[in-house]
Amino acid sequence: MAYDFTTAANSVEEYWMPFTPQRLFKKAPRMVVRARGMHYYDQDNKPILDAAAGMWCVNAGHDQPKVKEAIKAQLDLLDYAPSFQFGHPTVFKAASRLIAGMPKPFTHVFFSNSGSEAVDTALKIALAYQRLKGEGTRRTLIGRERAYHGVNFGGISVGGLPYNRAVFGQLLPNIDHLPHTHDLNRNAFAKGQPDHGIELADALERLVYLHDASNIAAVIVEPVSGSTGVLPPPKGYLKRIREICDKYGILMIMDEVITGFGRFGSMSSAEYFDVMPDIITMAKGLTNGTVPMGATFVRKEIYEAFMHGPEQFIELMHGYTYSGHPLAAAAVIGTLDAINDDKIWDNVKKMERPFEEAMHSLKGTPRVVDIRNCGILAGIQIEDHPDKHDPGRYCREAAYELFRRGVMVRYTGPNICVSPPLIFDQSHLDEIVTKIRDVMKTI
Ligand SMILES: Cc1ncc(COP(=O)(O)O)c(C=O)c1O
Repeated sequence: MAYDFTTAANSVEEYWMPFTPQRLFKKAPRMVVRARGMHYYDQDNKPILDAAAGMWCVNAGHDQPKVKEAIKAQLDLLDYAPSFQFGHPTVFKAASRLIAGMPKPFTHVFFSNSGSEAVDTALKIALAYQRLKGEGTRRTLIGRERAYHGVNFGGISVGGLPYNRAVFGQLLPNIDHLPHTHDLNRNAFAKGQPDHGIELADALERLVYLHDASNIAAVIVEPVSGSTGVLPPPKGYLKRIREICDKYGILMIMDEVITGFGRFGSMSSAEYFDVMPDIITMAKGLTNGTVPMGATFVRKEIYEAFMHGPEQFIELMHGYTYSGHPLAAAAVIGTLDAINDDKIWDNVKKMERPFEEAMHSLKGTPRVVDIRNCGILAGIQIEDHPDKHDPGRYCREAAYELFRRGVMVRYTGPNICVSPPLIFDQSHLDEIVTKIRDVMKTI
């Protein structure tokens, strides 16, 4: 029987969408059909200002010519190369270029296809490294409440978003969590890093007493928790975590899937916060959102710890069919070229203060109960709806109305998140703020 793939072309039924209320979406699909620069366009060619960089990933703007050209040229040359035991020049070039831009301690990078995979790779490397050092009892991994580390079993185990964990069973053994750092009472409307909460890092020391340092492999934190609504770290918090890790031989992993690759005007926000972890994960902005890719960066001593034993042995039994895919590697190089040539990260530094001012100008807007910002990331917390079964309703309605009025934001729980492509200017900020203010008056 010949298949006919044409007959159901206009149905939205068959696709089971990720992290989406299927029935609500399918009643009134919100579609975008093309994009350029700071804008998406819908079926009617109406422009929609992208205040979310897609999903925190299109950092150099849509339809970026250098990224596009790099991918096209690579596709003409080499569509795929096996990633195990064969190489292709583009992936080595991408790795070298990335490492050249990373903070000094990071000398090697392992590629995967997503933030979730970059995180699981980091957790596996941490466990294997402790064992290689002769500290094989260190099996415990510590995450944090409200953290998002993707959706794989490792990531949801150390992650701290209850709904992402609730129905999936016991998850990984040997996991514990730090408390989250959101403190509305003391820190509401703080600009940048809040003043209060450094002592929350001391919870790590309490977990060390509880589990014993000899059992703890690593702690993983997002420098700024993104997906839970943008929670910048309290002043001194990350440094304190680093100090406790050093004191007890615990590896520190920073999950920079959102904060890395430009949101703080440099390759890694570790530089911005002046705290160097042992392992860094990235994804999203690496390829400007064009081709999926994840990256796990490690310090030299971690890589070298694996480089022992007979040469014919595989040192790390881990990898993906599409690790370092030629198109993704080309996209990395194109993205780096765009960042360099167009001085995109200079724009981040230039616009960081105006971004902060614009976001905080929304203080006093109806139903806005908190505004948080750091780098080019902001979370605007909206009052809970009195319906206990739908507390995020005001926020969701605001986000939908904003889309109707031509601004795309991300919303998570009661938070509107703003993270535009890093090529934005004051006029984009003005439009975002004006429309949020107008919409909140109607909700
Ligand atoms: C901090 C962090 N880690 C991991 C992930 C997972 O990335 P992905 O959706 O590419 O698997 C995300 C996604 O938003 C993230 O924000």
